[in-house]
Amino acid sequence: MNPVKVGLLGLGTVGGGTANVLARNQEEISRRAGRGICISHAAARETEFPDVDTTGMVISTDAFAVVDQPDIDIIVELIGGYDPARELVLRAIENGKHVVTANKALIAKHGNEIFAAAQEKGVIVAFEAAVAGGIPIIKALREGLSANRIEWAAGIINGTGNFILSEMRDKGRDFADVLAEAQQLGYAEADPTFDVEGIDAAHKLTIIASIAFGIPLQLEKVYTEGIGHITQEDVGLAEQLGYRIKHLGLTRRTDKGIELRVHPTLIPSRRLIANVDGVMNAVLVKGDAVGPTLYYGAGAGREPTASAVVADLVDVTRSLTTDPGNRVPHLAFQSDALSDIPVLPMEAVETACYLRMQVDDRPGVMADITRILGDQGISIEALLQREPVDGASDVSVIMLTHRVLEGQMNESIKRIEALDTVTGKVTRIRLETLDSD
Ligand code: HSE
Repeated sequence: MNPVKVGLLGLGTVGGGTANVLARNQEEISRRAGRGICISHAAARETEFPDVDTTGMVISTDAFAVVDQPDIDIIVELIGGYDPARELVLRAIENGKHVVTANKALIAKHGNEIFAAAQEKGVIVAFEAAVAGGIPIIKALREGLSANRIEWAAGIINGTGNFILSEMRDKGRDFADVLAEAQQLGYAEADPTFDVEGIDAAHKLTIIASIAFGIPLQLEKVYTEGIGHITQEDVGLAEQLGYRIKHLGLTRRTDKGIELRVHPTLIPSRRLIANVDGVMNAVLVKGDAVGPTLYYGAGAGREPTASAVVADLVDVTRSLTTDPGNRVPHLAFQSDALSDIPVLPMEAVETACYLRMQVDDRPGVMADITRILGDQGISIEALLQREPVDGASDVSVIMLTHRVLEGQMNESIKRIEALDTVTGKVTRIRLETLDSD
């Protein structure tokens, strides 16, 4: 049988990796897929590709011309960003071509539109590489766990952010310095604020939540908080209290709706996921039948991401002759069976919290603070007061609270910050035990 022809859009970090993995492992890949897979055309901005095996490819700068090539079966979109990726993918679908993409921003923001178009045309849009790089989390959630009612999923799904927090903790390195290294290594997004402000993780969490619960993609409803305000002091204090700070994406089904949130989080150090360091990613998924399951691996980088892209190419190749009605649905659930269960606003979410504040070192201060918390029904689980540094008149107070509604905690923080005896802002970091409940 003739090889399947692929048009590759983008020959950068992941595009180059995809070309190399396909070329290097072509024999194994065709034994799995049932026929060869070859990149016949590629579009790229660059003109030199020193580390990429481009054998047999016609390379141009015109991505739309590749999408319009009549004899191409599958378009691989590795350009990233919203535009022109959206137009290219929609045009490929319109041309009756299957699509493989690593573009989490595109799927999270325009996925509903893209999947509807693909459904109409009877083509596949595969996106394993969009979430957690090389970890086959989409496959696991969509197929491996399909017997389960998924209860929650929590993940370290941004390698750059995890690399920064790990280096700060282990080597006391400066935030900006570690970020620069992540950029150099090709892990960071083109706009690295997407990594540190949690936008990249929000894209990935949006996709995970849709597939876990069978809801439409709702990027605009993700509560997103970055890691820019996390200090060395917080990292050290968390450690002393038996926790690690991780930038976590978390989605949970509750009686009232779906939680969808990305924020720095204290996790007990004894949890496996708390020990996922550097650029590695991990996703913990709790299903009612299977219990907690953990998926770990490289969340970014040239060949790990290419591994997911090529796996999608194999899947699409195997499915070319199948009836579109019998394929795995894009969002795991049949498109007419998606649920309208609401996404909860952050004020309605309940979490335990770590609070750090700078207070005057005099009698009655602690009583005022605990009274405010008590008035809101917030119970304190642990309390730590540090000795004044070099005779200073103020001290750091650190508290861990029991679970509390975000709205009530917001009110308490406002009242604590208004006390004359409290200096500056209260640092609040949410805490999740991630046990099997
Ligand atoms: N910037 C992303 C990360 C790349 O650091 O995880 C993979 O999506």
